[in-house]
Amino acid sequence: MRRKVIAGNWKMNMLPSDTIKFMEEIDPLVKDSKNEVILCVPFTDLFYAINYTRDIPYLHIGAQNMHYEESGAFTGEISPEMLTSVECEYVIIGHSERRQYFNETDESVNLKVKAALKHGLKPIVCVGETLEQREAGNAIQVVNTQITKDLDGLTLDDLSNIIIAYEPIWAIGTGKTATKEDAEEVIKAIRDMVRELFSNDDVPILYGGSVKPENAKELFTMPNIDGGLVGGASLKPDVFEKIVNFDK
Ligand code: 13P
Repeated sequence: MRRKVIAGNWKMNMLPSDTIKFMEEIDPLVKDSKNEVILCVPFTDLFYAINYTRDIPYLHIGAQNMHYEESGAFTGEISPEMLTSVECEYVIIGHSERRQYFNETDESVNLKVKAALKHGLKPIVCVGETLEQREAGNAIQVVNTQITKDLDGLTLDDLSNIIIAYEPIWAIGTGKTATKEDAEEVIKAIRDMVRELFSNDDVPILYGGSVKPENAKELFTMPNIDGGLVGGASLKPDVFEKIVNFDK
């Protein structure tokens, strides 16, 4: 059986002092969960989060973006090695907010995914359609194209180090969650596509977009949905804990 993964994406929220407080509070609340818990924090919080969780096997830390180049004149960017130098484990790649506001394309996402894997970072690769694309009946075609391009050139070994997140753009931060049937349909299509590409589909595929304690269980117990990538509801330990412990 595939593992369940609950990942938080703090986006541009939380200072180091908030981070330490969050880790202290979440730690005892998720200690007994058999689900993998990942928190993707701002760069300035990474050191603090990793320092706190270093000896805690059930809390994993990730970044939210990185550049694909190793070093150079890229003002304001962060390299894979900078992330590994602070023992960062995961990195979100291709979040729709990066694609929408910072011009990321499937080509740059693919370069980033390869660079992350080369440096021993585990990418959480995000895909998802806009409302327009969904209404035109193109959701599955859109995510299949993204998956094919974003994972181009990866090996079967690489597949065991990645996580995929399906985040329909219209469901992010809107309070509008995809129905469990809609999310399952697209995630199953992504799994079929992964199998076609790698002759293997053993990869966690998460749902993201207005996940909250009230809908976590119905989503995460669908056959192909292996957990969630959680934005707003990952900022408060007592709320996030309920999502991590959806199966209790
Ligand atoms: P919300 O959970 O706030 O809708 O955000 C989802 C998301 O973008 C996680 O990466």
